[in-house]
Parts: sequence; structure tokens; C-alpha cells
Amino acid sequence: MSFKIGNVKLENNVCLAPMAGICDSAFRRIVKEMGVGLIFAEMVSDKALCFDSKKTLDMLYLTDEERPIAQQIFGSDPDSMAKAAKIIYEKMKPEIIDINMGCPVPKVAVKSGAGSGLLKDPDKIEKIVKAVVDAVPIPVTVKIRSGWDEKSINAVEVAKIIEKAGASAITVHPRTRKQGYEGHSDWNIIKEVKENVSIPVIGNGDIRSADDAIKMLKETKCDAIMIGRGALGNPFLFKEILYYLKTGEKLGEISKEEKIKYALKHFNYLLEFKNEKVAILEMRTHASWYLKGLKGSVEVKKKIFKVTTKEELIKTLDDFSKV
Ligand SMILES: Cc1cc2nc3c(=O)[nH]c(=O)nc-3n(C[C@H](O)[C@H](O)[C@H](O)COP(=O)(O)O)c2cc1C
Repeated sequence: MSFKIGNVKLENNVCLAPMAGICDSAFRRIVKEMGVGLIFAEMVSDKALCFDSKKTLDMLYLTDEERPIAQQIFGSDPDSMAKAAKIIYEKMKPEIIDINMGCPVPKVAVKSGAGSGLLKDPDKIEKIVKAVVDAVPIPVTVKIRSGWDEKSINAVEVAKIIEKAGASAITVHPRTRKQGYEGHSDWNIIKEVKENVSIPVIGNGDIRSADDAIKMLKETKCDAIMIGRGALGNPFLFKEILYYLKTGEKLGEISKEEKIKYALKHFNYLLEFKNEKVAILEMRTHASWYLKGLKGSVEVKKKIFKVTTKEELIKTLDDFSKV
């Protein structure tokens, strides 16, 4: 299960996907406690970093517990991507820099030609990867989709360019930009990429259980797996997968007490670097994910959406764990 990206040794091959607005330091610490091998931090804009945006620089906040970490950047200009990579390297010393070539959001992909927009411009892909690889003394990885749309699936061609340009690993989320997050990811594309490059391939898309994790590893022969939405409110999924990979056995159900314990922990981590109001707002979303499916959770969620102080939020969760 151990795994290497460039010279970075990872304890296992199970990774957390970058998710904008979600994968901040608090969530990452929780996931790390579940044993994840590598964390990908949510994307930051190259231009915003180059313009010294405080909001973006704040997004680089990290505790040592979260390491090893890959910080993701997005942009479409090789020079400013290289400059942004240097800024990240100096400010947070991540183990890896990851380049986003999958974001489907119109403002990123269409207007700026960044994220998945780059899949339409293989020449630029090469220039960006080379520029970033030359700019920092750490491994550079790239996360791609299968292509722009169903008529232009080019993951294999793009992966070969990325490898040649010096990247140390590649993550494949096999949906087209046009698909967004709809439909199924086509794991055959992960397999095809794996068969065509020598650098490690990380497979991503629709892993929701330990069985899915094993299935992706077996079917695609990818070197590592990456999980995004399946971990929302369920960071325990990493523990389940790792336990299954190590022992071949399944962990039991996660208890209500355990879920609430981690929701509270998550909230306390948020309070360490965000002000109370913002932490409460963010925790409303996370708490509703943690409590999903528990008996009586609908009422508790309603209460959580009304609380205005940290004491009230903690008491609401505490009281629910005693019911
Ligand atoms: C809310 C949200 C935010 C995301 N933000 C990013 C991002 O910042 N960078 C990126 O490469 N992918 C991002 N993604 C895509 C995920 O990393 C992942 O590729 C996708 O969700 C498929 O994996 P999953 O089925 O395990 O969720 C995001 C996905 C979601 C749902």
C-alpha cells in the first residue's frame, strides 16, 4: 500500500480529493486522523497569489499534522503558474504542487481557459507543466478529466504530454467537462491512462465504499485512489478502506456518538483559524452531512441552522449525542 510520488514517500495509496470550499485545514485534519496517505488541498488561483490576495494567501493555512500535502493551483498562463508555484513553495512548503486541469466551472474553464479548459490546448498543457516543474524543487502532479466533451476524449494523449513535461504523477477523474458531476465516471479511461504512462496514476470518481475502492484498484490497476464526495460527513470512509485493504475485513458501522464526536472536533478545528461566525456557517453544512441518516437528525439540523454562538452549536450536538 505504500506509494511514492517523485521522492515523496507516502504511507498508503489512499488520497483525499481537492474540493473547493470543503478541503480546508479543519476537514483535512479530520481526514488525516482517519489515516489518509496524501491530502490534496483545494485549488487556489495563480493570479490571486501573484496579486498577493489576502483571501487566497489565507487559504494556504496548514498545520503540520496534515502533511504530506499537495497544494493545487489553477491558471492558464505558464509564467504566472510558475510564479504562483514558487509563492506556494515559499509560504507553505507543501510536499507536492498539483495543477488543476479538471475544473468545469465556466468562469475558470471557459472564460480563463484554465482547469478543464486546458484539455483543449495540449501545447499549453506542456508549457504550463514544464514551467511549474522548473519553478519548484518538489514533485509536480496534474489532475485531469477525460476530455472536454464526449467527442474529444483525450486523457491518454494529455497524460503522455504531462509525463513528458516532467510531472511526477497524474490523477484521472474520468468524466468530461461537459458531464460536470453527472452520470458515471468511466473507469476504463483510468485503465487506459495507466497502460500508457510510467508515472503513478491516481484513479478518482465515484468511490463511496471500501468495495468501490478495491474494485477501482483491481479493474484499472491504478497506483492509488482518490476520494472526494464520498468523504463528506463520512471521513470514516478512509479508515474503512484502509482497514479493508490491510485485513480483507470490513469495519462495523460508525456509531452516532463517533459521528458527533468528530463533528465537534471538526468545529473546534475550524474555530482555530476562522472567526466564530464563519466557523458556525461552515459547520452548518458539515454537521448536516455528519448527521445525515441518524434518527432525529432533521430536528437537530433545523436547530443548528438557527444557532449563532459556538456554545449553542456545541450544546446542540452534545445534547443530540445523549438522546
Ligand atoms: C464541492 C466540490 C469541489 C471541488 N473542487 C475541486 C478542486 O478544487 N480541484 C479539483 O481538482 N477538483 C475539485 N473537485 C472535483 C473532485 O476533486 C473530484 O474529482 C470529483 O468530485 C470526483 O470524485 P468523487 O466522485 O470521489 O467526488 C471538486 C468537487 C466537488 C464536489
